[in-house]
Amino acid sequence: MSSGVSCGAAVKKKTKVKQGPAKVTKAKPKPKQNHHALMDMAAVLYREREIRRRVKELSWDIERDYAGKDLVVVSLLNGTVMFLADLVRYLDMPLRLDFMGVSSYGKGTKSGKVVFTKELKLDVKGRDVLLVDDILDTGKTLALVTSKLKKLKPRSLKVCVLLSKSARRTEKVVADYVGFEIPDAFVVGYGLDFAEQYRNLPFIGVLKPEIYELVAKK
Ligand code: IMP
Ligand code: MG
Repeated sequence: MSSGVSCGAAVKKKTKVKQGPAKVTKAKPKPKQNHHALMDMAAVLYREREIRRRVKELSWDIERDYAGKDLVVVSLLNGTVMFLADLVRYLDMPLRLDFMGVSSYGKGTKSGKVVFTKELKLDVKGRDVLLVDDILDTGKTLALVTSKLKKLKPRSLKVCVLLSKSARRTEKVVADYVGFEIPDAFVVGYGLDFAEQYRNLPFIGVLKPEIYELVAKK
C-alpha cells in the first residue's frame, strides 16, 4: 500500500537563494596614525577635535555679527584650505566666496617678499568682506592684502585668522576673529605647510627645529 511517502528516499531540502546584490564585507577603517609626520613634530598643539570645536565657535560669532549683511568671504590661498572649508560649512547663512593667491617667497620658515598669484573675481564694492587667513605672523601679508582690498571700497572689512603669533608682529594689523593665540614657534598641519609639506595633517603641530634648520643651512 502506498502511503504517498517515499520511505528511505532522501528528501532534498530546497535552499533559498537570496536575490539582490552580493554582500560586501567592508574592511574596518584603520584609525589614522600619521606616524610619518608625528616623527617630525616637537609637539602637537591642537588635535582635530579641539580645532573643530574652536572653528565652530568662530562660526557662531561670525553668524551673529554678519546677520542680514552682504557677506563676501575672501580667502587667501593655499594655507586656508582646511580652515576655510570647515568654517564656511559651519556658517549657516548666505555668503559669497572668493579667493586671492598670495605667496611669501622666503627661505625656510622666514617670510619674504609677498607676491600676488591670484586676483579676486567678485566685485566687493559696497559689500561686507571677511578676509580669512591661516596665520597672522609678522602681519606683512595681511597689511598688504587689507590695503589692496580697501581700495576696492567694500562696505566693511574684517579679518579672521585661525592662528596668531602676536610675539612676532611688526605691522599694525589686528584680527577681528582669532582661532588660537600661539607662542612663537613654527607650526604645520591643517593647511599650514613647511616647504609645501604637512598641509594634509588633521592636527596642528610644532615642527622640530632640526627639520627646518636643515633647509636654512642649504
Ligand atoms: P606674515 O606676513 O609674517 O604675517 O606671515 C603670514 C604667512 O606666513 C602665513 O600666511 C603663512 O603662510 C606663513 N607663516 C607664518 N608663520 C607660519 C608658521 O608657523 N607655519 C606655517 N606658515 C607660517
Ligand atoms: Mg598663508
